[in-house]
Amino acid sequence: MEIIEKIRRHPLYREYYNKLEEIEKERIFCRHQMEHLLDVARIAYIYNLERQLGIRKEVIYAAALLHDIGKYLQYKDCIPHEQASAEIAAQILKDVSVETNAEQSEHVPAKKDTFSGEEQREILRAILGHRKKRENMSVLEELLYTSDKQSRLCFACPAERECDWAAEIKNMEIRT
Ligand SMILES: [Fe+2]
Repeated sequence: MEIIEKIRRHPLYREYYNKLEEIEKERIFCRHQMEHLLDVARIAYIYNLERQLGIRKEVIYAAALLHDIGKYLQYKDCIPHEQASAEIAAQILKDVSVETNAEQSEHVPAKKDTFSGEEQREILRAILGHRKKRENMSVLEELLYTSDKQSRLCFACPAERECDWAAEIKNMEIRT
C-alpha cells in the first residue's frame, strides 16, 4: 500500500477526520474534507513541477493530507488547528514510516515508501506554518500556504459575503 494511503487509513487519521466531517456538516463556509485536501496536494504538486522545486510527491501529499487534521480540536477546544494538526501528524508520520520499515525488513525500503526523519520534520514545520505568510518560510511551508489559499473558490462560494477572510486573500477570479 502506498504511504499516502497508509496515512489516510491510520486509526488516528480516521478518528479526527470523521469527527471533523461530522462537526462541519452544516458549515456554510470552507470545509476541510478530502476534496479540499487533495485540491491542495494537486495545486502544490503543479507548482512544484512548474517552479522545479524538486520536492518529493509523497512529501507534498502527506503535508496536504495532514495540514487540517486537527481542525476538530480547534472547534471543540479552541486549540489552533496548525498546532493540533502537527501533533496528530507527528504520531501518524512516525507510525507509517516505522510500519513500512518493518514490513520490508528483508530489504532496504524504497525511498517513496517511507519518510526520513528530516522529511517528517519538514512536513511538520509546513503544517505548523501553513496559516500565515511570513518571512523565512521553508519552501514546503510556503508551498502549502499558497496552495491552501488558492484551493478555495471564493468567486463561486454562496457564503463569500459573510466570510471573514481578508479581501486580499479571497480568490475572486480564476487564476492560472
Ligand atoms: Fe486547508
